[in-house]
Amino acid sequence: MQANVFHKLFLWLPFAYHHTSNGMEWNYLTNGKTWTDLCATGKQQSPIAFDIQKTRELKSPRIYFANYNVELKGPIFIKNNGHTISMDIPATINGQPPFISGGRLRGRYLAKGLHFHWGSPNSNGSEHTINNRRYDAEMHIVHRNAKYIDIIDAAEKKDGLAVIGVLLEIVKEPIAIPTGLTKVINAVIETPRDESNTTIPAGFSLDEMIGNVDHNDFLSYDGSLTTPLCHEAVSWTVFTQILPVSFSMVSKLWKLRDHCNHPMINNFRDIQDLNNRPVYHRFGRA
Ligand SMILES: *[C@@H]1O[C@H](CO)[C@@H](O)[C@H](O)[C@H]1NC(C)=O
Ligand SMILES: *[C@@H]1O[C@H](CO)[C@@H](O)[C@H](O)[C@H]1NC(C)=O
Ligand SMILES: [Zn+2]
Repeated sequence: MQANVFHKLFLWLPFAYHHTSNGMEWNYLTNGKTWTDLCATGKQQSPIAFDIQKTRELKSPRIYFANYNVELKGPIFIKNNGHTISMDIPATINGQPPFISGGRLRGRYLAKGLHFHWGSPNSNGSEHTINNRRYDAEMHIVHRNAKYIDIIDAAEKKDGLAVIGVLLEIVKEPIAIPTGLTKVINAVIETPRDESNTTIPAGFSLDEMIGNVDHNDFLSYDGSLTTPLCHEAVSWTVFTQILPVSFSMVSKLWKLRDHCNHPMINNFRDIQDLNNRPVYHRFGRA
């Protein structure tokens, strides 16, 4: 009962669940080892460790990123939800929703929100790893299958969600940090604590959150949300190319506080067993 009340009243994005089904507040103190229910028993959980050598080549067409190149219509809502910084994705200035289709997806998946996972001044904090390398941070762009009513509904369905993962790496002199990403991370000075929120004018598109990372070269598998309740509803797409960012950008995230007013650091989940799931690699080409 309690879980249901939370689902219906409190939450509209699954990564903002504050409680597991037994009513426990969850946290990242053990990077998810103590999470219960499907998080503990599921066999198709995320994140995973990508081993490029062990992937199968994906021959599907590329993913079509519709309206990703069109400016979003502001103001854009950004919030500290106690576990991460999340941004609502509005329609574009043309009134169209950004969405993805193609690749291994059937149908359209509407871009609804994005958020981040990160480490600390002395630890890397991406969720997925590639060839045993953990990157500094990871951005997730969460999409909902257009045939379902909302994210809560979609999270209950096997084909409910599609998440794009972008791995971020701190480099000394990043050539061009995407302008949208810079604007969003600069805004976190306004969201220092749980529940604090702000809005920013738009003036950027979703592509300007991702920059020049090749959208056609990606790793793909079926998995779950990486936060309670760990619904196994996600078709994952993680770009193989890494987005270079600056130390000063990522360090803004390390200064935030979480729902316990502790430093919001290392908010990533441990690697989960693959359990023989196929993992695909699509090579970048048009
Ligand atoms: C952490 O990131 C640094 C710099 O991005 C990298 O050199 C190092 O190999 C990473 N550590 C792990 C364990 O992946
Ligand atoms: C945004 O923050 C204000 C307080 O500054 C709070 O009253 C409001 O409920 C918050 N809105 C959301 C949607 O979290
Ligand atoms: Zn995430």
